[in-house]
Amino acid sequence: MTDAIVATSAADSTARTAPKVVPRHVAIIMDGNGRWAKRRFLPRIEGHRNGAKSVRAVVEECRRLGVRHLTLFAFSTENWRRPQDEVGGLMSLFVQHLESELELLLKNDIRLRAMGDTARLPPAVRDMLRRNEERTAGLQGMDLILAVSYGGRDELVQAARKIAAAARDGELDPLAITEESFGRYLYLPDVPDPDLLIRTSDETRISNFLLWQLAYAEIVVSPVLWPDFSRDEFHRCLNVFAGRSRRFGLTQEQVEGE
Ligand code: IPE
Ligand code: IPE
Ligand code: MG
Repeated sequence: MTDAIVATSAADSTARTAPKVVPRHVAIIMDGNGRWAKRRFLPRIEGHRNGAKSVRAVVEECRRLGVRHLTLFAFSTENWRRPQDEVGGLMSLFVQHLESELELLLKNDIRLRAMGDTARLPPAVRDMLRRNEERTAGLQGMDLILAVSYGGRDELVQAARKIAAAARDGELDPLAITEESFGRYLYLPDVPDPDLLIRTSDETRISNFLLWQLAYAEIVVSPVLWPDFSRDEFHRCLNVFAGRSRRFGLTQEQVEGE
């Protein structure tokens, strides 16, 4: 039942030990930028600016290890309620990095995909997301999924609306709705559920991230603030994941007998 990929030693081209099991899909709640800045008596936006460096390191490392999907929580539906200058600063950073990192995506065979209520984003961010999505559409090395203006409840509500409309129009029998068919109304129906969820900065909340898809994800909390999140800390999280026993509701004996 495990969908994770067993890593080969050949994948380890650095001194870092290759993790025993590489998750197929890693999701990360990148948290702690504000606290990182506060500790340095800097404005919060400096924390976000420095967080971008960690994004690059994790993207490159996931690609190198053979992770198929990496989902990064960049901005939540609740984050719209933050002070206007912080929201504006984050939007500028998104535009800036989407512009500058296109090369990295092309070079590494990475497809960019956005998930969320992107209609709420300023046109400059939307256009840049669309440009990168179009330019990387055929790339198959890895999916980099950016959750922007994303809320798990929001995603479920928009799915419910589409399902209700289809039922109203006689295209869908309510009794024919299954977990599988419901999943097809979510933002990215073809992407498998995350195997591993990492949250940084020692917070132990889901904060409205991927409520449906995280049903059986292994959760690893890192104490490190996102701007300080390094390749080594990422490997530590992967090793914790590799040591977990995933049972999906079965007994340990059943899992071992599989
Ligand atoms: C995460 O860092 C980034 C976003 C939510 C956009 P925070 O900005 O939440 O940092 P803290 O939690 O205040 O330290
Ligand atoms: C979650 O972090 C959202 C992102 C990382 C984009 P928050 O910092 O917004 O979450 P809470 O408010 O601490 O739950
Ligand atoms: Mg936070």
